[in-house]
Amino acid sequence: MTNAANTIKHVASPLARQTLLDRDLTRPVSAKRPIRLLPWLQVIKIGGRSIMDRGPEAILPVVEEIRKLLPEHRLLILTGAGIRARHLYGVGLDLGLPVGSLAPLAATEAGQNGHILASLLAPEGVSYIEHPTVANQLAIHLTAARAVVGSAFPPYHHHEFPTSRIPPHRADTGAFLIADALGAAGLTIVEDVDGVYDTDPNAPGGEKAHLLKETRAADLAKVEGTLPFDRALLEVMATARQLERVQVVNGLVPGRITAALRGEHVGTIVHTGAQAA
Ligand SMILES: Nc1ncnc2c1ncn2[C@@H]1O[C@H](COP(=O)(O)OP(=O)(O)OP(=O)(O)O)[C@@H](O)[C@H]1O
Ligand SMILES: [Mg+2]
Repeated sequence: MTNAANTIKHVASPLARQTLLDRDLTRPVSAKRPIRLLPWLQVIKIGGRSIMDRGPEAILPVVEEIRKLLPEHRLLILTGAGIRARHLYGVGLDLGLPVGSLAPLAATEAGQNGHILASLLAPEGVSYIEHPTVANQLAIHLTAARAVVGSAFPPYHHHEFPTSRIPPHRADTGAFLIADALGAAGLTIVEDVDGVYDTDPNAPGGEKAHLLKETRAADLAKVEGTLPFDRALLEVMATARQLERVQVVNGLVPGRITAALRGEHVGTIVHTGAQAA
């Protein structure tokens, strides 16, 4: 008779038989900083309302600037949803649609803006790719081309958190989550204002608004007023693992995106909760 017990391969796992709910038990394994998957990647989020909705006057100079950046950087360009999503929310909310129905519809509007941008950059080898391709084949696509374009919305879709009737996780949150998950070199959020102000510079009385050159997500979270990005962005910034900061820049001013990608301070730098390695 053979001794079967001697040939059994035991798989050692530091989490074997542990509840994943006990932080003291999981911390020794999970507290390690994750590896950076694409440390050379620069992620750019292009505003739907602030850039894409303005048409050629705003889009073409941004396209030209990105075209010139391609020899210098490898880019994941993500687009926001803009005015069509606002209209969609209006109609959908009137009809009583739940947030989980509105989220994927708004995401397709962000995708449409991405298709427009990708078409304009097609001569440079740039194309639009869908979420599963971003998730699984970004590296090969960025080996074939200097940049790709995608929808900035996170694919929560029908699983969107029902914390509000309008999807709380929109384009800025999606761009940040993917940039942090990939361990990208940076995220630049492109708007139509010079950065984050203490109040909306375009609202009545906005001429008194003061530009915050540098701030922390934790400090912005305490401010009640409006922001030029999703409030949920501040929540995901609090638990960021890789991206220590993002920069919000004015895409209507030629050269700002280029300068931001070169590490220059030309907008608002928002520090996240991620610790330096
Ligand atoms: N505290 C603030 N600082 C700067 N801009 C602000 C602030 N609060 C509101 N805004 C406004 O936000 C506007 C940008 O709007 P928004 O962020 O919705 O556009 P977007 O990012 O292009 O849209 P999308 O999310 O569809 O991509 C600015 O033009 C500005 O008027
Ligand atoms: Mg914005």
